Amino acid sequence: MAKKIKVGIIGAGGISRQHVEGYQKCPDAEVIAICDILPQRAKALAEEFHIPKWFDSAARLLALKEIDAVSVCTPNYDHMRSSVLALRAGKHVLCEKPIAMNARQAQRMVEAARQARKKLQIGLDKRFSSGVQFAKQVIAEGRVGKPYYARSLSIRRRGVPSWGVFGQKKLQGGGALIDIGVHSIDTAWYLMGCPRPVAVVGKTYRTIGDTPGHVGMFGPWDYKTYDVEDFAVALVRFAGGATMMIESAFCVNLDKNVFGCNIVGDKGGVSLDPLQVHLEAAGYLMDCTPNHLPRVQTYHAEVAAFVDAVAQNKPSPVPGSQIVWVQKIMDGIYASSRASREVRIK
Ligand SMILES: NC(=O)c1ccc[n+]([C@@H]2O[C@H](COP(=O)([O-])OP(=O)(O)OC[C@H]3O[C@@H](n4cnc5c(N)ncnc54)[C@H](O)[C@@H]3O)[C@@H](O)[C@H]2O)c1
Repeated sequence: MAKKIKVGIIGAGGISRQHVEGYQKCPDAEVIAICDILPQRAKALAEEFHIPKWFDSAARLLALKEIDAVSVCTPNYDHMRSSVLALRAGKHVLCEKPIAMNARQAQRMVEAARQARKKLQIGLDKRFSSGVQFAKQVIAEGRVGKPYYARSLSIRRRGVPSWGVFGQKKLQGGGALIDIGVHSIDTAWYLMGCPRPVAVVGKTYRTIGDTPGHVGMFGPWDYKTYDVEDFAVALVRFAGGATMMIESAFCVNLDKNVFGCNIVGDKGGVSLDPLQVHLEAAGYLMDCTPNHLPRVQTYHAEVAAFVDAVAQNKPSPVPGSQIVWVQKIMDGIYASSRASREVRIK
């Protein structure tokens, strides 16, 4: 039997639990250590999931020679630091989304992976959903023709995270856009075939999150430390003429939460949430719905794909080198908002 891939987890907060469960479902992997700067969190998860070792720092975890791969599950400010440390220590890295606070940091991570000859995968788990995979296949079969426009939304009417540091710009890099908009951008961009972004015009707003007395679907958040955007809107232009419109909100005075994506081509269209293919047939406009789809736990599926890429030494399906472009789009939206004009993406 092939040797199991030994895994360490950096950061023992909310999302790390999904990673641990994902690895524990993989016959080819085992989690042997976990760390957190709040060591009681690492200890608690180690005990719950029977993880043999726990530490209070990434450096101590990475000193374990037997570790082959790590998941970086820390807040955004630490993604680059822990990922680069891990890559330099010779470990493969699955880093949570967004790849980093900005594209400069993202590129340092990609360079570290290149130099170490190790995998760097980013936790854009929505790609693994059965709906996105269905839409990808429909597009691959030519049923929508050439995609030229995408509209992608991640809108919470009042959904500021009440845990962690999601409202603090210096620790997260931004708010709704970098936290949930990143999924909207990546999903639409992936379905469009990852065209090269060339320019973006966008605007971000903070009108609600830093003031007291609001309703919150995740409970009250710390409005006093909140200095990120509540809402972002942008239009991205791609080489070849395609465009993408995105809207993302932690809180906005719209009627409801909306998470959806439409891809439009010259022959048809495809929508997620609800999942439909829009066609013309038999002289009618048709909306087709798949009869059944497999249930996919997307966090576990991304972990399984990472383990497979490491075990089989094959390319990761969500490589850091590709996701730098997603970060460049987000950097461009923030820059465009600051400058009040369209900015080029290089
Ligand atoms: N893919 C998704 O849909 C998804 C969902 C949730 C969270 N995330 C991402 O996961 C990351 C963490 O989010 P979360 O909800 O688990 O946050 P969290 O606050 O619950 O957990 C983060 C943990 O990291 C620890 N930590 C902070 N700095 C550290 C360091 N330098 N070394 C070791 N540990 C450190 C914190 O003490 C905390 O326990 C974020 O980047 C977030 O964007 C992704």
